[in-house]
Amino acid sequence: MTTLPPDDLTPLTLSHIPVLAAEVIEALAPAPGRVIVDGTLGGAGHTRLLLEAGASVIGIDQDPYALNRAREAALPGLTVVEGNYRDLPELLSSLGVPQVDGVLLDIGVSSFQLDDSGRGFSYHTDAPLDMRMSQSGLSAADVVNTLPEEELAAIIYEYGEDRHSRRIARAIVQAREKAPIETTVALADLVKRAYPGFSRGIHPARRTFQALRVHVNDELGALRDGLAAAEAVLAPEGRLAVISFHSLEDRIVKRFLRGSAGLEPLTKRPVEASEEEQIRNPRARSAKLRAARKLGPDEAAGREVGR
Ligand SMILES: C[S@@+](CC[C@H](N)C(=O)[O-])C[C@H]1O[C@@H](n2cnc3c(N)ncnc32)[C@H](O)[C@@H]1O
Repeated sequence: MTTLPPDDLTPLTLSHIPVLAAEVIEALAPAPGRVIVDGTLGGAGHTRLLLEAGASVIGIDQDPYALNRAREAALPGLTVVEGNYRDLPELLSSLGVPQVDGVLLDIGVSSFQLDDSGRGFSYHTDAPLDMRMSQSGLSAADVVNTLPEEELAAIIYEYGEDRHSRRIARAIVQAREKAPIETTVALADLVKRAYPGFSRGIHPARRTFQALRVHVNDELGALRDGLAAAEAVLAPEGRLAVISFHSLEDRIVKRFLRGSAGLEPLTKRPVEASEEEQIRNPRARSAKLRAARKLGPDEAAGREVGR
């Protein structure tokens, strides 16, 4: 059972500064009569722009809080769907929509999720160690309190790219032998203590938190599945736009686009935010946009692919 936030959210509180907005609009070419899936509806920042350009939008999110906000806003032309974008074909078929003209994936967490002190995504505020976007499945607390040390180290190394992963995993296991680790601050403090030579700068728990979030939400698995799912539901000439925020994600997108016979990349290199946007919206600093066009069957047959 999900506890939803109170219904005091007006359309004004829905807004979220969409990253690379002009570039996304150029890539997706929204227009009246076109149906575009926003697979990561979040605060509906991009969706609003797609709607303003006259497209109809199917907005998907796995976060019941985000969906509640979007439903409250009742934006004309927007159909709100709860689900994981990795299940795009099934979600669209439940709406009776066989193909769409565009798919947007703006992956990762939203500023709402980071700022919501109760969700456990941030080490800045004390909260239950949760991090589940969908509010279902294993929480970050379940993961840190039950996984074997080697698995924890592998997660922190692979998804957090932290070279002190083994040391951190050991500290987690030692701490949980005394008492379960249940809050963000408890975890952040123990990572800080385990970190060699930390005095100031970026908090040493940043990479561990990222790693746990990616694991808890199977973000990379969802991205791999979601890219294939997006390709499957795009009509010929349809557009795919993907915004990623770290190198692990961008590598998956780059390889997928290179290896796909049915998609033609529209961006040779990832598009990054202008200096001005980065100043205005610090979240845009690490954003990378890649876009592609779905080929018709005749075009796809003659295309060479490589990875
Ligand atoms: C970066 S935010 C999107 C912000 C949005 N583009 C905007 O302008 O407001 C990412 C959103 O995608 C959702 N999300 C992340 N992974 C998802 C997945 N696999 N399936 C469905 N929703 C997902 C998150 O819950 C979050 O609300």
